[in-house]
Amino acid sequence: MSDSPLAMPVVDAALEQRLVARLARIEELLVEHCRARTPFVTEAATHLMTAGGKRFRPLLVLLAAEAGPHPQADEVDTAACVVELTHVASLYHDDVMDEAALRRGADTANARWDNHVAILTGDFLFGKSSELTADLGPDAVRIQAQTFTSLVEGQILETVEPGPDEDPLAHYLEVVAGKTGSLIATSARYGAMFSGASPEVVEALRAYGEIVGSTFQLSDDILDIASESHTSGKTPGTDLREGVPTLPSLMAQASTDPADARLLELLGRPLTDDAEHAEALDLLRKHPAMDQARAYVLGQATVAKQHLEVLEPGPVRTALASFVDVVATRSA
Ligand code: IPE
Ligand code: IPE
Ligand code: MG
Ligand code: MG
Repeated sequence: MSDSPLAMPVVDAALEQRLVARLARIEELLVEHCRARTPFVTEAATHLMTAGGKRFRPLLVLLAAEAGPHPQADEVDTAACVVELTHVASLYHDDVMDEAALRRGADTANARWDNHVAILTGDFLFGKSSELTADLGPDAVRIQAQTFTSLVEGQILETVEPGPDEDPLAHYLEVVAGKTGSLIATSARYGAMFSGASPEVVEALRAYGEIVGSTFQLSDDILDIASESHTSGKTPGTDLREGVPTLPSLMAQASTDPADARLLELLGRPLTDDAEHAEALDLLRKHPAMDQARAYVLGQATVAKQHLEVLEPGPVRTALASFVDVVATRSA
């Protein structure tokens, strides 16, 4: 993706060095926060935490904190841990919901142990995240609670069919905003808040983060179709296998071209048969809906960047702008 040791490139060398050093410290803190009284719980919680995530959300906290007068505040580090703990917890639960076998290049907790272990380990990490949020004060606790509510509602909404009068794409975008946009919005908001940025900047970065978050998920959906597991660390076509609608599949389903009849027959239902799954994956990979989805994602990146106009031009604004560009065009 880039030569940067960070998940997203940061053009300014001094800023990049600062972020790398800080993320190394956050890494240590995250491992400490996975420690439980029972060795087995520590093992289960550390399993995904140390399996090599991109640390995209903590990085966004740190980057957004650069927009305030006190980017080095300890609360910024705490907030970075809070969002990653919440994220990892949601991954344990998500892999149960999606019956996924591979995550971060490792066996999922449900595959390695079972669903009970995966669900309870997710709960354990949510508990740890909440405990830590209490150190940040009541506003942070409220924001964290609202974020978690939105995330869970998004995950549940994904399992519910859109209503008869509801546009399936609008339903899907609501799912995405909830399950992924909410926590990424909070990452940017926390960073700005705990570095003492003005309310105007905090709100602009929250709004920016919300779009970045949704865009991140839309890119992930495209990658689920387009990538191979050796680059993504996940099994390709998982959404397709489960019959989960995504941006490319919804755009393909809007087609009225008779040549798409076979693809449309395969989409929108679980594909348990390996041959049918491979066929659908192949047809969708070649379909113009893939480029249409990519174009939508690029449009969203432009909207996100408009929210950065409240910031002074300089390395921080540039880094946040390139951050969303990478999210929109990411290949891993
Ligand atoms: C995966 O998130 C779940 C989504 C919301 C798409 P990431 O792509 O940030 O996963 P890790 O943290 O790098 O494993
Ligand atoms: C994950 O969504 C969203 C959350 C974990 C809240 P997906 O199910 O689309 O993400 P991946 O592809 O498993 O990472
Ligand atoms: Mg999943
Ligand atoms: Mg899912």
